[in-house]
Amino acid sequence: MKPSLKTSISSLELSNPTVLASGILGNTGEALLRVAKAGAGAVTTKSVSLEPRKGHNNPTVIELEHGFINAMGLPNPGVEKFLKEIEIYKNSSVSKKVLIIASIVGDRISDYVEVALKLGKIPHALELNISCPNVETGLIFGRDPLNASELVKEVKANTELPVIVKLTPNADKLIEIAEEVEKAGADAISAINTLGPGMVIDIEAGKPVLSNKFGGLSGEVIKPIAVRCIYEIAQNVKIPVIGIGGISDGKDAAEFLMAGASAVGIGTAVKAHGISVFKKVCSELSEFMQRKRFKNIEELRGIALRG
Ligand code: DHB
Repeated sequence: MKPSLKTSISSLELSNPTVLASGILGNTGEALLRVAKAGAGAVTTKSVSLEPRKGHNNPTVIELEHGFINAMGLPNPGVEKFLKEIEIYKNSSVSKKVLIIASIVGDRISDYVEVALKLGKIPHALELNISCPNVETGLIFGRDPLNASELVKEVKANTELPVIVKLTPNADKLIEIAEEVEKAGADAISAINTLGPGMVIDIEAGKPVLSNKFGGLSGEVIKPIAVRCIYEIAQNVKIPVIGIGGISDGKDAAEFLMAGASAVGIGTAVKAHGISVFKKVCSELSEFMQRKRFKNIEELRGIALRG
């Protein structure tokens, strides 16, 4: 019999563990619908802020040998406009089966709270991006357990939706932050966001390639760090974890699930291989589970923690 790929993240039920990670194809309702129809278990929007943000000048993304480095500067049209895109998604019947998570970002706690209030109950869940390496917030909330905790408490007090907190690997207190956001009421953790900041220099021109100079690394190159972070987070908190970082095939997904993740976020691989990656990851994961006689995700989840 084929294994079941069903999983859950807090109260969110997913038909399979693949989630579109924030930042890729998450700008419009139409693009999110395309990803959902291509087989994702859930989709996450690009991070939305209270006011529109222009983002950094080009170049903002560079392809590396085994990944990407980017500093977009969180460009987005602001929550008022973005709400319409989420509504387009919600008005499709696909949204009944493939849930939409709104990623939100701000410069201060009140920004996150206002965005959460404006989104109301339109998305199915919120993901707090406290981990962008290219803006101040990644430092204020993403690396400080008390600030992260305060933020989660305030957002939780102002929304009825499940709140997922996206953590950065660029924090020396990662585990403490995970524990504090759990205590503050977070419903789930997603990790990791991009690794960095890093830098690439154009030696012909003698200057940094990215207009922002520094940027975050994503893709295959960061996978071992991501797996270690998930493993350590899952060892220390009870809330579910969405594992993200360099996942592009079924084996990668199995690795994150074994490290304790309940679902897997896919971002850079969508950029590199297209939206067929969701079905590919699911069918390869299913074949692996069948070969190893795992009947469901729960049997697989966290076995490396126990082994
Ligand atoms: C950006 C945001 C992120 O959360 C990230 O990990 C990398 C880049 C950005 O918009 O600059």
